[in-house]
Amino acid sequence: MHRTSSSVRDKWQAPEVARHYAEARFRNRRAEARDPRLVAQLLEHAVPSPERVLDVPCGTGRLFPTLAARGASVVGLDASREMLAHTERDQRVVQGDALALPFANASFDAVVCCRLAHHLHRDEDLARLLDELARVARRWVLLSFWDAGALPTWRKRVGLKRSEGARGRIARSRRELAHALAAAGLEPREYRTSLRFVSQQTFVLAEKR
Ligand SMILES: C[S@@+](CC[C@H](N)C(=O)[O-])C[C@H]1O[C@@H](n2cnc3c(N)ncnc32)[C@H](O)[C@@H]1O
Repeated sequence: MHRTSSSVRDKWQAPEVARHYAEARFRNRRAEARDPRLVAQLLEHAVPSPERVLDVPCGTGRLFPTLAARGASVVGLDASREMLAHTERDQRVVQGDALALPFANASFDAVVCCRLAHHLHRDEDLARLLDELARVARRWVLLSFWDAGALPTWRKRVGLKRSEGARGRIARSRRELAHALAAAGLEPREYRTSLRFVSQQTFVLAEKR
């Protein structure tokens, strides 16, 4: 059975899942630094001095220091109260749905969406997410996804890596992703990954048309 966006939303609601994410998921220093580094590089290119940035879903807020480093006012949104409970006290966070954002059109210079797209199985859920990211962004959307052109997908295909099953995370090709971005009025400008063809987790910087 394919995951729906609401079953994805439920996944991080439990306190122990949130605690694990906050305390253990990125315990390895190199792994911890990877996403913030790629986000910082892409933002530097697109909008070096943003005034307002949205981090959705922000989870435990691990990207906040990177996003605020350029003097931006950062707002985080996540569906899980338990994940938000791990963010810093002075941080502006909202509990809500990334597929129905409670923000006005074009209210952020950049919108960052890290580690959600590969959980969305249904193309209609990805389309709703991209529509919402594009709607609230003035110009830039920075999205991470799993690239089907990377080694782990090939290893799964030839049986060298165990599949996560029908409810697992999913990879999409750059072509598929560009198609979905285009339908939301977004144009891919740049892709970044730690190791091309090796790391699945890839960021795309997309510009509103
Ligand atoms: C893998 S975590 C990523 C969190 C953060 N972006 C990061 O990279 O650390 C996925 C997050 O997505 C949130 N989430 C899942 N579905 C959501 C939805 N529809 N709206 C808002 N947040 C959602 C979960 O609560 C969880 O915090």
